[in-house]
Amino acid sequence: MVWRPPIAKAVQDAVAQGLTGYLPGGLVDAMGAACGDFLLARHGWDVPADWIRPASDVLAVLESTIKYFSAPGARIVVPTPAYMPFLKLPDSLGRQLVEVPLLRTESSWELDYAALDTALAGGGLLVLCNPHNPLGKVYSRDELLRISQIVAARGARVFSDEIHAPLVYDGGTHVPYASTGSAAAGHTVTGTSASKAWNLAGLKAAQMIFSNAADRGKWSEVGDFAEHGASTPGVVANIAAYRDGGPWLGDVLDYLDGNRQLLGELLGEHLPGAGWLRPAGTYLAFVDCSQLGIAGSPADFFREHAGVALVDGAECGGAGRGWVRLNFALPRPVLRRIVAQMGAALR
Ligand SMILES: Cc1ncc(COP(=O)(O)O)c(C=O)c1O
Repeated sequence: MVWRPPIAKAVQDAVAQGLTGYLPGGLVDAMGAACGDFLLARHGWDVPADWIRPASDVLAVLESTIKYFSAPGARIVVPTPAYMPFLKLPDSLGRQLVEVPLLRTESSWELDYAALDTALAGGGLLVLCNPHNPLGKVYSRDELLRISQIVAARGARVFSDEIHAPLVYDGGTHVPYASTGSAAAGHTVTGTSASKAWNLAGLKAAQMIFSNAADRGKWSEVGDFAEHGASTPGVVANIAAYRDGGPWLGDVLDYLDGNRQLLGELLGEHLPGAGWLRPAGTYLAFVDCSQLGIAGSPADFFREHAGVALVDGAECGGAGRGWVRLNFALPRPVLRRIVAQMGAALR
């Protein structure tokens, strides 16, 4: 991906000015204001700037949420297939993971609400990923409201990962979970960053977003150490992305949308036995390889025989076995080549 001019300039200016020390309070405020303005303009979610706090990355926000905003020992409930680290992090913090497999219908992936309700019995923390990695599912307001009713009834909490929120295609709408009402706002910590949409992950900065005064108050007591992880150039880059990154984001979404369309055509041509649902958001496609006659891991097969690196669906939880996750944020000639090579490997 090419470097994004307003962001590059902001980082270069910061370096030229010697803004490479610890994160100054003024930049924390500027990040809260820039991210808050972006959330309001793009998603209609009005969050006070001071409730948007710096973190090194979104996984660190999840870690802090587990540590400080879920009951001690509470189970971590993850709808699967899921972004792989969600399945590993709970154990590293001494927590029990509960997978809730999503249900595949003809035209969508649906949360299993009855299974979610059972998994949250006695409380717990739901890790919601919206837009969803690896499925590209964008939850509707009705779905989010139904989730919030179950979570509230169980006295549970939610970590809402919205890192892919800027990457929703025309026809879809991202609804921030905590914006759906007072129930969700009261039990949620949201994590996001400009790092996915503007490819800034190596600069290490993200936002931990609170949606109620009690959580924000608690964070004032416990959050210093985690906030210390955000890098100054990363925060500068995030501010520039939220403030001035709109035109580049528009172009990149158009390009990715073209890739999304092309991928459907390429799969039909080269891998007609594969199944997939067009993602409504993200640059990830989850492809069903179970009918392709591959014995064992499809990702291993394609790495070995097609020279193509994919994530094996099984790494995303039991529900992903037989599938692969394909990242289509690629130059189109490369996308054409990898799908053709995958098809050739099967012949
Ligand atoms: C849904 C989701 N959450 C979190 C991350 C990791 O983000 P970070 O590097 O900010 O921890 C990713 C990276 O791909 C992701 O897709």
